[in-house]
Amino acid sequence: MTSQFSKKSEAWSARFSEPVSDLVKRYTASVFFDKRMAAFDIQGSLAHAEMLATQNIITAQDHADIQRGMAQIHAEIEAGKFEWLLDLEDVHLNIEKRLTELVGDAGKRLHTGRSRNDQVATDIRLYVRASIDTIVGLLGDFRSALLDLAEQHSDTIMPGFTHMQVAQPITFGHHILAYVEMFSRDTERMLDCRKRVNRLPLGAAALAGTTFPIDRERVARTLGFDDVCHNSLDAVSDRDFAIEFCAAGALIMTHISRMSEELVIWMSPRVGFIDIADRFCTGSSIMPQKKNPDVPELARGKTGRVNGHLIALLTLMKGQPLAYNKDNQEDKEPLFDTVDTLVDTLRIFADMAGGITVKPEAMRAAALQGYATATDLADYLVKKGLPFRDAHEAVALAVRTCVDKACDLSDMSLADLQQFSPLVGADVFEVLTLEGSVAARDHIGGTAPRQVKLAIARARQQLTN
Ligand code: ARG
Repeated sequence: MTSQFSKKSEAWSARFSEPVSDLVKRYTASVFFDKRMAAFDIQGSLAHAEMLATQNIITAQDHADIQRGMAQIHAEIEAGKFEWLLDLEDVHLNIEKRLTELVGDAGKRLHTGRSRNDQVATDIRLYVRASIDTIVGLLGDFRSALLDLAEQHSDTIMPGFTHMQVAQPITFGHHILAYVEMFSRDTERMLDCRKRVNRLPLGAAALAGTTFPIDRERVARTLGFDDVCHNSLDAVSDRDFAIEFCAAGALIMTHISRMSEELVIWMSPRVGFIDIADRFCTGSSIMPQKKNPDVPELARGKTGRVNGHLIALLTLMKGQPLAYNKDNQEDKEPLFDTVDTLVDTLRIFADMAGGITVKPEAMRAAALQGYATATDLADYLVKKGLPFRDAHEAVALAVRTCVDKACDLSDMSLADLQQFSPLVGADVFEVLTLEGSVAARDHIGGTAPRQVKLAIARARQQLTN
């Protein structure tokens, strides 16, 4: 018992007179999830060791030993041969213990001028930074795939909806571009968050700084951080960057979820606007005819867990006094799961965008039902001199008549239409066509195919910047 105890808590055992129970050990340990930060832990330790050596806090020999030991540990982890021990609590102590086994006293000197508190804060920042870079890359792939889809359908007409009622004709390309806007903002948000992630906590030590003559700027440069954290208490306790990251992630998933909802509706046989390639769908175990849009449905569902992680982190922080508290260990699993969910979802969606088949005839048929060009008729009358409110009224009456007759505005004769306003002329039928309607919305941000093509070109330009 005693020997096992002293093995476990080498880092802090001398102070204690009895071992923790197995349950407490399991409860307080993080190694089985934080080991995924191992590569960042090693990277941070190497930068710290290099600084200690240049500041003559450790010898060049110690530095060389640490480098050699860390290289071996890295290889062992990569090869799946590293033995992670619950007894050693977390990724930091596991690696440090192995280093000491491999290189002796140099391993024990690595922790000079450092604490696990600034060490873990550094590891998480390195992890979140790398994750942001991956996610920004995937958002780029996804936007690019959406732009290809939008381009193929820059003049495919579909009904645009408000309140889920047919509102006005739009182009499918324009609709897809709305999502490109969302995912572009998401990219900006991630890159903005990255600025605040990219600061170095190391040097704060446990909370108050260290008595050793450290060079924090040097470590920051080595690790590619833009700056150091400017207050040691804040450095070890700040998790704002993790919250911001999850908030940006929750918004990405919210956009994915909105799009998923549309994909599900569009693929429903009742609507039949699109088909999604078989590799993203599954069948039913009982109903042989079914082809279900599982990927969009699951993505819509997974949005809940990412939103949950954001709330978990906000709640984690709200009651914490300065500086570090063990509560902070709970920051990792929500972060990891947010990253995993985002990475998998974006990867699949980038691929799935290329697997969407559009059915223009179904979209067109739907746009022809629901008087989608009613606003065009009102605008036409306004251009002939009628005040907009009067035009609105005249067209409302015309629509009512069409509803009774079960026909479209464009099915009425000129004489019929003139009953609602004498200003109607033979040229009215141009504005009542779907093509005329979309082509007329020809300004920046409008649905005209010409504008859609320009918007695609602008978005592609942004992607290459
Ligand atoms: N596993 C800990 C965490 O994730 C590392 C820091 C522990 N520091 C401490 N003083 N107990 O936050």
